[in-house]
Amino acid sequence: MLNYENVSLTYPGTSTPVKALDRYSLTVAKGEPVALIGPSGCGKSTSLLLATGLLSPSEGEVLVDGKPVNKPRRETALILQDFGLLPWKTVFENAALGLCIRRFSKAERKTRVERALEQVGLSDFAKMYPGELSGGMRQRLALARTLALDVDVMLMDEPLSALDAMLREGLQDLLLTLWQQRGYTQVLVTHSIEEAVFLGRRIVVLSPRPGRVMTIIDNPKMGTFDYRGTEGFYRTCQLVRKALKAETSRSEGSSHGA
Ligand SMILES: Nc1ncnc2c1ncn2[C@@H]1O[C@H](COP(=O)(O)OP(=O)(O)O)[C@@H](O)[C@H]1O
Ligand SMILES: [Mg+2]
Repeated sequence: MLNYENVSLTYPGTSTPVKALDRYSLTVAKGEPVALIGPSGCGKSTSLLLATGLLSPSEGEVLVDGKPVNKPRRETALILQDFGLLPWKTVFENAALGLCIRRFSKAERKTRVERALEQVGLSDFAKMYPGELSGGMRQRLALARTLALDVDVMLMDEPLSALDAMLREGLQDLLLTLWQQRGYTQVLVTHSIEEAVFLGRRIVVLSPRPGRVMTIIDNPKMGTFDYRGTEGFYRTCQLVRKALKAETSRSEGSSHGA
């Protein structure tokens, strides 16, 4: 469903060009949930932007559903950490925003938004404003906005990083539920090893900048809510930790700080 073929991306930069990705290759199957983890600045966000079509590769090719992405695609969503909510619009209106932009009818908007708010547990808050919601609720609202669009590719850039630990686990459970219900292809960028192992059927470990895929860890047992408490979960976390450490030591001595 999502295919990076030897993708390199160099930003022009202000004084010197910055190579963010170098021969980055990754294939994500239809309906597969993948987690991306790597040192900060290694090109994780860049890889998501390439998949949306908001950025084009300097070399190589990015394909979604078999077609090169050279412009933003309707069925691809990108969720960011800062929610992107409009404070002067209600919860309902915020959730309907993407539908308004795409000129869905009022009736269709109502059906879709009600369903999406229900799925994220915000039905009772439709008339409130983002400022009246907690951080966790605001992120659920951002999710609802995307769910209303019926996307088939869900890209998430550290969507839960701003939340505290307890809230975060609840939201991770919600992300798992939504993926199970909707069956979209999912790429989740995260700094958290536990989050990657809870939500990624494969965990892709990137090298320091310029980012390349260094290790892919299979995690076939993901997909249940009690996975966190199991020995397999713990072992997989250890594998990811080791892979990340190997990356850090490989890059020691270079001028780049992770
Ligand atoms: N618009 C830009 N212009 C120049 N350099 C950029 C730009 N965006 C990102 N970079 C640089 O590219 C590298 C990768 O960035 P990014 O994809 O945001 O990394 P990550 O998400 O893994 O932290 C970083 O070194 C960053 O400073
Ligand atoms: Mg980033």
